[in-house]
Amino acid sequence: MENTKYVLVTGGAGFIGSHTCVELIESGYMPVIIDNLSNSKIESLARLKKITGVDIPFYQEDVRNREALDMILDKYPCVAAIHFAGYKAVGESVAKPIEYYQNNLGCTLTLCEALTAHNVKRVVFSSSATVYREGDEVPLKEEYELGCTNPYGWTKYMSEQMFRDLCVADKEWSAVLLRYFNPIGAHKSGIIGEEPNGIPNNLMPYVAKVANGELKELRVFGNDYDTVDGTGVRDYIHVVDLAKAHVLAIGYACENTGAVAINVGTGRGYSVLEVVAAFEKATGQAVPYAIVDRRPGDLAEVVASPEKASALLGFKAQYGIDDMCEDAWRFEHNLNK
Ligand code: NAD
Ligand code: UFG
Repeated sequence: MENTKYVLVTGGAGFIGSHTCVELIESGYMPVIIDNLSNSKIESLARLKKITGVDIPFYQEDVRNREALDMILDKYPCVAAIHFAGYKAVGESVAKPIEYYQNNLGCTLTLCEALTAHNVKRVVFSSSATVYREGDEVPLKEEYELGCTNPYGWTKYMSEQMFRDLCVADKEWSAVLLRYFNPIGAHKSGIIGEEPNGIPNNLMPYVAKVANGELKELRVFGNDYDTVDGTGVRDYIHVVDLAKAHVLAIGYACENTGAVAINVGTGRGYSVLEVVAAFEKATGQAVPYAIVDRRPGDLAEVVASPEKASALLGFKAQYGIDDMCEDAWRFEHNLNK
């Protein structure tokens, strides 16, 4: 339809992408998803319809397929794109660096070419707190110098740089580089959430599987860090808050040109043991754990400075750790019904 505000969403069937599609629809946009389902399931689409009542246009294609992108952008005149598609496992990226560079950088390059060709010059990109250097003082600020410790991080660093260079070369471009901290939780409906393949690497999905008895106990990776109780501290953010930040970022990209990096976190850190306690309190489920050695590559404390997001986007996280735990549990519980 002529006045429909289409937004191309790469990786829209995934965890953060699917939640963002819900928020886009609530704010009057129409997402158009391209996802090759390499890390998500076709069921995402039916679930999104259940929540929103909308049949979201969906293309099961690889973002590196330029012809597919051209076909979609010809059909839907998009106001902007949100680029989620990519691989995201830090450990796997160390073992398979070329696959990570190929997929993550290939997607960014092909997308930039196709968007430029179709005169769609606004993009919101999924970057990560992993672009910050080890040992910098928290809270982490956007103007800090960057540096990565794994190939996944470098793909985010390099993609950010591509968008920055594009914005220098063409003053009509606008790129909002959102650096996510630790997204957890799920939509309040319990219909969509985080569903990693196999044994989860990340804390919250692991905790949820211990609580439902699928896994025996949580292994807490080290209790000798210089933190409140010795365990690692992270800035957890509810995925619905993060999704809303994308809608605000689209609005910002429509009003401004140039590239800007913005943290999306709460500014408040929680240790692993604080998360376990919050989960037990919010859900009434016991989470047995054992302290084991540190996980290689982990940092003591990763917390965002949330000020730039507040100043530029008017963003402030609404949900606290209790909501994050309750909602993650509701989704996990529904999955196993
Ligand atoms: P996800 O794996 O659930 O979603 C990514 C989606 O992209 C998946 O549906 C996958 O099938 C799709 N995809 C991957 N390669 C593709 C390709 N070549 N063509 C088409 N589709 C492709 O991950 P998520 O947690 O929703 O993360 C979304 C983005 O946010 C990723 O870029 C990730 O690196 C970034 N990010 C995530 C976190 C986190 O903790 N979840 C933190 C920081 C940044
Ligand atoms: N942890 C455990 N046991 C587990 C899993 C995690 O103790 O079974 C601890 C970790 O040591 C860390 C905290 O819980 O202290 C959070 O770990 P996650 O694996 O959930 O998250 P990370 O902070 O390690 O990594 C996340 C994303 C990455 C991203 C990074 C950026 O998963 O993609 O944030 O900071 F690069």
